[in-house]
Amino acid sequence: MSNIEALKQEIVETVDAANDMQELESLRINVLGKKGRITDMMKSLGQMSPDQRKEMGQSLNLLKNEITQKIESRAEVLKNKELNQRLENEKMDMTLSIRPEQKGSIHPISQTIEEMVSIFATMGFTVAEGPEIEDDFHNFTALNFPPEHPARQMHDTFYLPDDPEKKSDDAHLLLRTHTSTTQIHVMQNTKPPIRIIVPGRTFRSDYDMTHTPMFHQLEGLVIDKTSHMGHLKHCLTTFCKKFFAVEDLPVRFRPSYFPFTEPSAEMDIGCTHKDGKLKIGAGSNWMEILGCGMVHPNVLSNCGIDPEEYQGFAFGMGVERVAMLKYGIPDLRTFFESDIRWLRHYGFGPI
Ligand code: DAH
Repeated sequence: MSNIEALKQEIVETVDAANDMQELESLRINVLGKKGRITDMMKSLGQMSPDQRKEMGQSLNLLKNEITQKIESRAEVLKNKELNQRLENEKMDMTLSIRPEQKGSIHPISQTIEEMVSIFATMGFTVAEGPEIEDDFHNFTALNFPPEHPARQMHDTFYLPDDPEKKSDDAHLLLRTHTSTTQIHVMQNTKPPIRIIVPGRTFRSDYDMTHTPMFHQLEGLVIDKTSHMGHLKHCLTTFCKKFFAVEDLPVRFRPSYFPFTEPSAEMDIGCTHKDGKLKIGAGSNWMEILGCGMVHPNVLSNCGIDPEEYQGFAFGMGVERVAMLKYGIPDLRTFFESDIRWLRHYGFGPI
């Protein structure tokens, strides 16, 4: 076998043995590069006789072409192998189910509103909404607040800068301090019978364990020709029993005062304090839960409804307050701190 033949066989063997592209590339440089073995041999052609040079030159050119082709076809094989390996390693099984750990949760306020709405819905109430930016008329005057009532004072109400074209005191803009404002909108625009609840945001300038500047209320309003205090008591008692899931829940109605109802009452539910924990149900204590009453005739007239013909009842309760009682949440402020650990603990799953 000639030297060239032997060399060719040796190179072909190493090319076939190359396991990856890097190895093949260094081999190529070793053989065909500027200082490669075949290149070196080509350089020595100059020292040969013309005949030898011709013969040797042809053989070397042939060898060079053959080796180049051999390297190219090996490169093809190796590239395919690498691609297949990557496809295997980076494979994703799209049929796998998503990770089971839960990332988000439903805020206790949303959950509580959802529960309240669904209970009142079974009693025929529909949900109404009203604006959060109100005027003095809807928040106070129409609801029969006397002109000097303390709730009108600056310390309680967030007032907005006045419109320079404001015509009267009733037009002062403010953030609604209660959802009772929506009673007015609905009565102004709906012919009775009316049976609505209004869950929504309310605002008062106050901040401590039991007050935040923004909080939620749920308002209720029933207007027709016959509803009376007995209906009010039954409606709210039914709600509380269902909401707290206590069938024999004791309730009581204490006389109270609200400008927009007459008579007015506050409703208490039975509870016990034991080992620093509160338990809702028959026991030795009472817990105030909401305000209510028969809609004041002045309020009906203020909305264009004849109090000689129509009557009804209204109620309002704090959503955070009932959520705290039901789910044992001790501090109101934590509702709005957006602490992920708090949400994980008190939040609800979507199902
Ligand atoms: N608006 C009252 C408040 O914010 C709550 C309330 C009491 C609403 C009695 C009513 C009601 O509709 O009849 O304190």
